[in-house]
Parts: sequence; C-alpha cells; structure tokens
Amino acid sequence: MQIHRLEKIWLSIGIAMLIIFLAIVGISGFAMGMNPPTSDSAHGRIDPTKVDTTPPFDKPGLIQAGDNLYEANMTAYLFSFDPGEMEIPAGSTVMFNITSKDVVHGFSIVGTTVNMMVTPGEINHLSYKFDKPGEYLVLCNEYCGTGHEVMQARIIVK
Ligand code: CUA
Repeated sequence: MQIHRLEKIWLSIGIAMLIIFLAIVGISGFAMGMNPPTSDSAHGRIDPTKVDTTPPFDKPGLIQAGDNLYEANMTAYLFSFDPGEMEIPAGSTVMFNITSKDVVHGFSIVGTTVNMMVTPGEINHLSYKFDKPGEYLVLCNEYCGTGHEVMQARIIVK
C-alpha cells in the first residue's frame, strides 16, 4: 500500500513537470511567432539597393534617444561613412545601426573594442559608451577596393 502511494506521488510530479515543460515550449514558440527574427524592421534585414529610401537610413545621422543616449544611423559605401562626423558629450552611449550600400565594409573605432563587419542586406548593431573626451577615428577594416585606406569617419567626444 505504502509503495503504491509513493508511485502515485511520483507519477503526479512527472505529469506536472511535463505540463510545465510543454507550457514553456508553447509560450516561447508563440512569442517567437509574434516576432519573426527576419522581419524587415530596423533590427533585421534591408534591401541593399534601397538603403537611401529605407528609414532610418534615408536620413543618416545622430538622434538623441535619452539622457546620455544616442542612436547613430549610418551607412557605409565605397569609400565613405555617412555621417562622416558626429559630435557627442563625454559619457554618452551610442547605439550604432549601420548598413552597407554595396560591398562588405568594416567598422572599427580606433582605441576601443568596437569592431564589426558591415554587410550589405543586414543592419549591424553595436553599442559603445564614450567616457573619455577626444577625437575617435572610425576606420573600415575590411578590404573593399582602391579607396579602402581613405574610408573613415570621426566621432568627437566633448
Ligand atoms: Cu570599406 Cu574597406
């Protein structure tokens, strides 16, 4: 009798665990269905031939998003970055959203850990907090053609 009751308890626990597990899988599956990761939003893919008419890249530039928080919407192309110069106060965090209009470029900020690839058809993201005032040089670090060496931008932190 005693053993039979224990078995019943364990069986109940097993069934409860199974129900919880299925509920978690079901909920996360539903949540993911609501937010397809490949949507044409500002956080996914983009038509590289329509960058100039796709927000926010139709108006590249710096947008203040909060206290000491900025969003830098940038484009990379042979052989420039747009905008080529940005000014922010020291202590600001900048969320970079950058896409390429042609080939694969690089985006690295000299003297920082910022280093990413800029791929046509994709919006690449990175955040960085600029604590130290100064002039930061942005370089393309993926060979992209004859003008690769001159492809750069400037971030001025005051
Ligand atoms: Cu762009 Cu190298």
